Amino acid sequence: MSTLVIVGAQWGDEGKGKIVDFLTEKCDYVVRFQGGCNAGHTVVVGDEKYVLHLIPSGILHKGKKCIIGNGVVLDPSGLLKEIDTLLSKGVEIDNSLYIAKHCHLIMPYHIAIEEQAEKKKKIGTTKKGIGPCYTDKIARNGVRAVDLLYPEILRNKIKVNLEIINFLLKNLYDAKELEEEKIFEQYMDYSEKLKKYIFDTDILINKAIDSGKNVLFEGAQGTLLDIDHGTYPYVTSSNTIAGGACTGTGVSPIKIDKILGIVKAYTTRVGEGPFPTEIKDSLGEEIRKKGGEYGATTGRPRRCGWLDFVGLRHALRVNGFTGIAITKLDILDGMDKIKVCVGYKYGNTILEEFPKEIEILQNCIPIYEELPGWSEKTAGIRDYEKLPRNAQKYLQFIEDSLNVKIQIISTGQKRDEIIIKETPL
Ligand code: IMP
Repeated sequence: MSTLVIVGAQWGDEGKGKIVDFLTEKCDYVVRFQGGCNAGHTVVVGDEKYVLHLIPSGILHKGKKCIIGNGVVLDPSGLLKEIDTLLSKGVEIDNSLYIAKHCHLIMPYHIAIEEQAEKKKKIGTTKKGIGPCYTDKIARNGVRAVDLLYPEILRNKIKVNLEIINFLLKNLYDAKELEEEKIFEQYMDYSEKLKKYIFDTDILINKAIDSGKNVLFEGAQGTLLDIDHGTYPYVTSSNTIAGGACTGTGVSPIKIDKILGIVKAYTTRVGEGPFPTEIKDSLGEEIRKKGGEYGATTGRPRRCGWLDFVGLRHALRVNGFTGIAITKLDILDGMDKIKVCVGYKYGNTILEEFPKEIEILQNCIPIYEELPGWSEKTAGIRDYEKLPRNAQKYLQFIEDSLNVKIQIISTGQKRDEIIIKETPL
């Protein structure tokens, strides 16, 4: 039996989907534990490209159980669209997909409020209603998946919530109010379509672990977007770090065996917020084009930059990685020199640790070391020894600086474009 948590070590988009998809082969259960359809995991199987937002990418493997945990905020309309797309491509859903009774539902009013709030204070959210849905959860006003099974409870919650929401929409934002009946009808329709998937998933997952199954916990976004440990307020509204796998599923920390951090060979960020190693010249644009760095959910261009060891050391500490995977190494092929940030300069002070103060982080100047690049292709290489010497040196530098084992290296988009140095499970 083995349990493995997979999380992003940067600002998301590290290429977790491919690694999860690859490791799912060895697992019986794949569980999402936070976030919602703000995430976008791209997986290429043969000639087919899948972009998954809510359903764990394990669904692409026959016979695996895929669970949407209680820590997720679920937009039923997005989920149904995803189910339809997968069904049209011949992917089996029934007997594979399970939704936690106690996961919270994104309601139309969450999206409406976020659209207005973003006009006043720009975080650069995905506008999927994620923040307002978690706000309702914490304020104890949330609508949960289980409410879809009890129409009167559902109706009452919509009614009570709309009293406040419509007041805000009308009086604060001068925007159109929402209709209670319309939302209720819409959610009763979702109820018909989704009720067969709604379960006590905490019991299901714990039974699976206790009976010796392999369980993989799939994180979304990345450590620096964590609501507590990220670059607050430019973060998402959930705990993206490994600890979120416990609260977001109902599994005890003592049942987690391994934690794999996914590190992209360079850094990207989408949305607003500080990004000390951002490359602002044409090289940034070059990496963006070569790496296809455009949001899988919103299509927004991602900001690109060098690897940042200050941020990565922080990620290592708050997650406790037992190993890491390096992704998109091939995007650095052909670069003359590669920079890595080993510390920050703030005024006359050298910072070795990631500052909590956003104002300090915004004004940090990265201290770089330069490593030689490689002209040969790493794309598609499956054997570590076949990597160019300088690519190996780059990887060794990462291992030594972070003092953590690189277990996997991804060298392309396809399933088999991967080097396994050591199995994380
Ligand atoms: P929200 O999650 O939509 O509330 O957005 C909050 C911040 O998280 C914004 O900067 C988004 O761009 C960022 N974000 C949310 N989901 C992802 C993701 O899957 N990858 C990268 N950034 C994300």
